[in-house]
Formats: sequence, structure tokens, C-alpha cells
Amino acid sequence: APVSLWGGRFAGGPSQALAALSQSTHFDWRLAQHDIEGSRAHARVLHSAGLLSEDELTAMLEALDVLSTDVASGDFLPLLADEDVHTALERGLIERAGSELGGKLRAGRSRNDQIATLVRMYLREEAKVIGGLVLDVADALVEQAAAHPDAAMPGRTHLQHAQPVLLAHHLLAHVWPLLRDVDRFIDWDVRAARSPYGSGALAGSSLGLDPEAVAADLGFDGAVENSIDGTASRDVVAEFAFVSAMLGIDLSRFAEEIIVWNTKEFGFVRLDDAYSTGSSIMPQKKNPDIAELARGKAGRLVGDLTGLLTTLKGLPLAYNRDLQEDKEPVFDQVDTLTVLLPAFAGMVSTLTFDTQRMAELAPQGFSLATDIAEWLVRQGVPFRVAHEVAGACVRVCEDRGIELWDLSDADLAEISEHLTPGVREVLTVEGSLRSRDAAGGTAPVRVAEQLEAAKVQIAEY
Ligand code: ARG
Repeated sequence: APVSLWGGRFAGGPSQALAALSQSTHFDWRLAQHDIEGSRAHARVLHSAGLLSEDELTAMLEALDVLSTDVASGDFLPLLADEDVHTALERGLIERAGSELGGKLRAGRSRNDQIATLVRMYLREEAKVIGGLVLDVADALVEQAAAHPDAAMPGRTHLQHAQPVLLAHHLLAHVWPLLRDVDRFIDWDVRAARSPYGSGALAGSSLGLDPEAVAADLGFDGAVENSIDGTASRDVVAEFAFVSAMLGIDLSRFAEEIIVWNTKEFGFVRLDDAYSTGSSIMPQKKNPDIAELARGKAGRLVGDLTGLLTTLKGLPLAYNRDLQEDKEPVFDQVDTLTVLLPAFAGMVSTLTFDTQRMAELAPQGFSLATDIAEWLVRQGVPFRVAHEVAGACVRVCEDRGIELWDLSDADLAEISEHLTPGVREVLTVEGSLRSRDAAGGTAPVRVAEQLEAAKVQIAEY
């Protein structure tokens, strides 16, 4: 028969409508094994406090092992009448250990401290998995960068041609934010590694149970400092949601570029057949669906964060049932990222770049104008004048429908006495790239160093 955890003071059972609203096993069941792990640790502190005999502890742990096996195999499942994962598992424990022993485990704990602990346990594991998948994407980008050490492309600002850059430099510009996302998960874990178990409903336990022992048992660095905070706050969950949303946004920025680069007009990349899709009506189509889904799912990941933050806003201390709404947003983020990241990594590692077309376009749109100005500065011309002179070169070229390097020596001299033929050394993509050799710049030597640094950082995680 279904067991309620709170029947005593009620004359009748819950209405159908309440039960349907209140029920959470359809999403919190994924925490079942963490709940059982928590129960093992809790049984041990009950024993340490003298509330379970040696034999009772042994029998309790055996029953929990059987329950764990049955949960894993699917032999034990929540019933519709089980309010939540904790309710279902208490029923399962009592079925296996008997109601006398099984009924002892709930002493000194509450679903409030349990659920706050389980969510942290679960998210700490998932953050590691997701971090690893992010590194796979970073790896794919690094490999593509390494495979194209000299390829140039038009660097853009405002989506307009700005200055030539190395393709490798551009690809690495997507690596660093991803590595920061991994760092954010690692840094987040410092705050997530505090166990609320032992906080009870809100005020702590009167039974002499040691929260630090439970925390250590469950792999936490320690217990929370404050039982009210431990049961009522969800900032740690929200921070996980932020990092996940930020990661989605970082992926979507590259996704957007792939979508644009994959158009006929750009023609910068070709997608592998295994990582693109067709159309049901247009036989010629090959669509960048992974990139589009990445872009779309970024919205969903942000929505999960926004929904959670909105739930938390204005909640008084301590536990409120609103907090049950904390789980689905982060579970959705975990599920979304664990399917998205491998597909994204596969798409990146199988991209083919049309480096010839990219290089051809790199100097077009007068993207070497800054190089003329900076060359003049190196000749001692004030930048204000140099900027004017380079601008005049662009105007002349635009009028005549030619590019900067088409200007003759006579044209150059007519525009400014400072424009000697020596300026031609920067009127090539190679010259322009080579000249940007300050740390972090796009010069091939600097990008090679940057690539090494990224590899080293990735290897160190
Ligand atoms: N299922 C709840 C949650 O996810 C935990 C139960 C707390 N319920 C209660 N009535 N105090 O937050």
C-alpha cells in the first residue's frame, strides 16, 4: 500500500487534484540513487548517535543495497500515489526492511535537507560530465586551428570586413570562452561542495547527528554553516544554471557563424554529411541543423535560468514548496547539453574550410587600410594624419573600383608625400598578419604560441 510521509494529523487522504499537482516523481526519480546514498550515510550517523544498533545498521544497509539494485534494474519504480522520490524510496525500504526498521531511518532528517543535498550531489557529477564534453568541443576547435596554421580570413567587426586574421586565431577565439565555462563549473563546485544534510526541516537536528560526517561520507568538503540557509537557498543551483546558459550562448555564437559561413554567398565551410541534414522536398538541400539547434537550444538554456531565478525571487526563509520547481530547469539543461555537445564536437571536427576563398576575401573591402595608417605611423607620421591619408586611399580606390594594392606609385605619391613604395610591404595579407605580433595578436608566431597554450590548458584539466 502507498505510504504517505505525513498522514498522522490528517483525517483523510489528499484530493486527486492536489496529488496530481504535488507529485514530482516524474522528474525527481532521477535522484533515486543519490537519495539511497544519502540514506546510507544517514543510517551511519544514526548508528554513531546510538539510535541504530550494530545489527540494525547492517540490516538497514543491506536493505538499501537491495533497494538500490531494484531501482537500477527497474524492478522497483515509483507508484502514482508516491508524492516524490523520498516517499517512494521509504515505501521501498519498508517493503524490504520491514516497517519497524524501515521506519527508523527518517529520524533527524527532512525531505527539505535531503532534496537540497541530492540536487547538489547530482549537479556536481553532471558538471564534471558536461565539462568533459565541453573540452571535446574545445579539442575539436584546437585541432582545426592546428590543421590550418597559415590560413587567412576576413576578420570582421559589425559583420563588415575589418582586418585580416588567421582562421586559427578566429577558431581559438571560441576556445577561450569555452575553457572559461569549464573553469566556471570548477569554481562553482567549491560552493556546491557543502552538504545541507543534517539541517532537518530548517532548524537542525536534536538527535546528536553529525552533519560533517554525512558530508564527508557523501563526498562533500563539509557541511553548510547554517541549517536555514542550507534548506532555503538555491543560489548554488542558479549558478549552475547560469554557467549552463552561458555555455549555450558561447556555443550559439560559433553556431551562428557556421550557419552564415555555410551559405552560398560566404562559401567558407562545408559540413560533413554525417553532421548535416536534408530537406523532405528540396533534393539539393544540405542544412546546418546542428548549428541551428545549438542556436535554438541556447534560448532554452537561458529560459531555464530565467525560470529558476524567477521562482527564487522574493521567497521568504526557510523552505517553501516553490523550491520543488528548482529541479526541472537544471535537469533540462543537463539533458540538453549532454545531447548537444557531442553533436557539436562532431560537427566542428568534420568541418571543411575553403581556405582559398577565405584568403581571397581576406584583403577585400579595404581591410588593409589600417595597415597603411600604422605603416605611416612607423615612418613618424602622426596617427591623425595617417588615418586621413589611408582614408583618402580608400576613397580613391572606391571611386575607381580598384583595391588598395592596385594603386600605382604615382597614385600613392599624389595622395601623400609620405606614401613611398615601401608601403607595399603591408599591402598583402601576409604582411598585415605578420605585423600584428604583439601578445594575443594574429601574427602566425603569436597564434602558434596561443595554440600551444590552449593545448596545455586543456591537457591540465
Ligand atoms: N519534493 C520536494 C522538493 O523537491 C521536497 C519535499 C519537501 N516537501 C515538504 N512538504 N516540505 O522540494
